[in-house]
Amino acid sequence: MNNNNNFFITTPIYYASGKPHLGTAYTSIVCDVLARWNRDIGKNVFFLTGTDEHGQKIVDTAEKINKSPKEYVDLMVPQFKNLLTKLNISNDYFVRTTDEDHKVFVQKMLQKSFDNGDIYKGTYEGLYCVGCERYYEEADLNEGNICPDHKKVCDTVSEENYFFKLSKYEDKLLKFYENSDFLKPKSKALETINRVKDGLRDISISRNKKKLEWGIELPFDSSHVTYVWFDALFNYVSALENNDKMDFWPCDVHMIGKDIKWFHEVYWPAFLMSVDMELPKSVFAHGMLLDENGHKMSKSLGNVIDPIKFAKKFGVEEFKYFLITNGSFGEDSNFSEKMFAEKVNNELNNDFGNLVSRVHAMTSKPFGEGMPEMGELQSVDTELLESLNIYDNFNSLMQNLEYTKAFDVLWTAIRDTNAYVNKVSPWAEKDEKRLGTIMNVLCSACIFFGKFTHCIIPNKSELLFKQFNIKNDGVFKVEFLEKGHTLGAKENLFEKIKLEKPAVEVVSVREGFNKLNLVVGQVVEVSKHPDSEKLYILQIDLGNEKKQIVSGLQGHYTEEDLLNKKVIVINNLKPAKLGGYESNGMILACGDEVVGLLSSDLDVGTQLKCGDDVADNESRINSKAFKKIEIFGKSGKVEYNGKEVAGVSVDKNVDGKVC
Ligand code: ME8
Ligand code: MG
Repeated sequence: MNNNNNFFITTPIYYASGKPHLGTAYTSIVCDVLARWNRDIGKNVFFLTGTDEHGQKIVDTAEKINKSPKEYVDLMVPQFKNLLTKLNISNDYFVRTTDEDHKVFVQKMLQKSFDNGDIYKGTYEGLYCVGCERYYEEADLNEGNICPDHKKVCDTVSEENYFFKLSKYEDKLLKFYENSDFLKPKSKALETINRVKDGLRDISISRNKKKLEWGIELPFDSSHVTYVWFDALFNYVSALENNDKMDFWPCDVHMIGKDIKWFHEVYWPAFLMSVDMELPKSVFAHGMLLDENGHKMSKSLGNVIDPIKFAKKFGVEEFKYFLITNGSFGEDSNFSEKMFAEKVNNELNNDFGNLVSRVHAMTSKPFGEGMPEMGELQSVDTELLESLNIYDNFNSLMQNLEYTKAFDVLWTAIRDTNAYVNKVSPWAEKDEKRLGTIMNVLCSACIFFGKFTHCIIPNKSELLFKQFNIKNDGVFKVEFLEKGHTLGAKENLFEKIKLEKPAVEVVSVREGFNKLNLVVGQVVEVSKHPDSEKLYILQIDLGNEKKQIVSGLQGHYTEEDLLNKKVIVINNLKPAKLGGYESNGMILACGDEVVGLLSSDLDVGTQLKCGDDVADNESRINSKAFKKIEIFGKSGKVEYNGKEVAGVSVDKNVDGKVC
């Protein structure tokens, strides 16, 4: 039973079949801020995240690089953990669905649901999208049974399966929605309610091992494994049970993206009802991050931003601040470097950073020996202090997950304080006693703000406390400094962000290049040439075919770097022998001393067209042609003939020509 002071928040467990990306970072940051806020106000928090490691998609991806599913997920999971470390995410536990204790727990739940009569055997024929790990009705697919999300034809699957009696829970679910605050945001609740009212069909929750072995075995039939979503959703309870934290159940907030609303809002409470468990208090489905042109950031569109690289370049906390306060939380929001720079420069640097820095300077100069006694407050002071009375408002907005509004409230208070500085003009104040009072009000206000910003920019807030020489006491009130208090040394909180122009690598390609047939490939095997210190022998997956390419990248990339990497392949070169091995193309790299690879997030097999006449002949292009491709600067866009090619970038800072 959840005690009142406990707060349990979860992220989705991310598919380990791909690298963590901006979306993964986003939901984790959103949860982190709420977890930290609740800790700061004195709650016991359990913050859970992890990885989803079973299912067809993992098997398929592992197969491509000749690994077993388990070897593959063991390679991928450290990348997810690394993201959490790099972004300073304060999760209390990381659950993996391949953990032995998770599997045991899921089997217990399956058995219970079976014993309660909710699981039965039947025959299923349907369309399955491996990308989504779900069955589709034909009506929900694009023409030709193409998945609207993954743009791939769904598989027709017919097999004897176990079914879960979802239909039995239709009324119970509707009652539950009506009598709880489960569906959040409220503005989107009707979507789910109406779909449930349209009727629920029983769902297949197993796969025959002859078709798929990589999953948790059904306890009542060892020839079947369970459907990934039954397995995955129960992570939220297995992690508590296995950490002896069941007192955190029911969950306060399951934070998810709206893409997986249905599973969390319909399947999840139904599964829980079936095993007689208490239901979570809320599921919040947030919006998707879109690029500046309004396209959803996704790997297949090639517009994903690497969150680790981005945070490293511009600052982790600046990055988090932007993600949380940009747009209107819950709705889709756009992401671009330009928007990021504007927000950080205006809000963090100008409004907040400059206030702190001015106040510190104006205090430490006259009062280096210690604060004077606090004088009487004038109406201008009390007016300010009244406008700083924001705790209740801020906290209730945070608890309602109205982040944007919560931080608006805080920033209004910060701007009011800036306005106060201009009104009282400390620099013109001749009366030292009055100046002491003003500066005490201002120092205390800055410290007060630091307590609120602590949940989103914790290290910056600590720097703030340090320069005012105080410890955060967790009291959300403006507390005046004592007489004689001295400040610490000045700390710079934020740097102004200057965007380099052009902003990512620029490759311009002149004539000659448009004869090349450029295709996105993925390295699926790497081995060192037996007697060369430079050459690797690479097997490249090009979508419809696999090619061997010999490339002189030893010394620039390790085998590990290359494995799984997406590269750009010149695909219409005559085969040549390099070091005695046949090479069927080249992969594009650039740079003189530091060599970087042109890389892409576009789907394997995507053709990059340069100009209208992509070569269809087999002619070997003179390598001089490549000398015409130059890289300018460190960051920017990749262009062919002056046209930007989406989804292609250089993976290192390089100067020089394509080689
Ligand atoms: O769905 N903008 O895993 P997943 C914002 N394993 N958030 C995004 C995003 C974007 N463009 N792209 C992804 C799964 N996300 C299942 C979940 S839970 C029991 C099982 C975030 O790796 C968002 O939270 O596809 C979304 O719901 C989640 O990543 C999907 O992660
Ligand atoms: Mg997904």
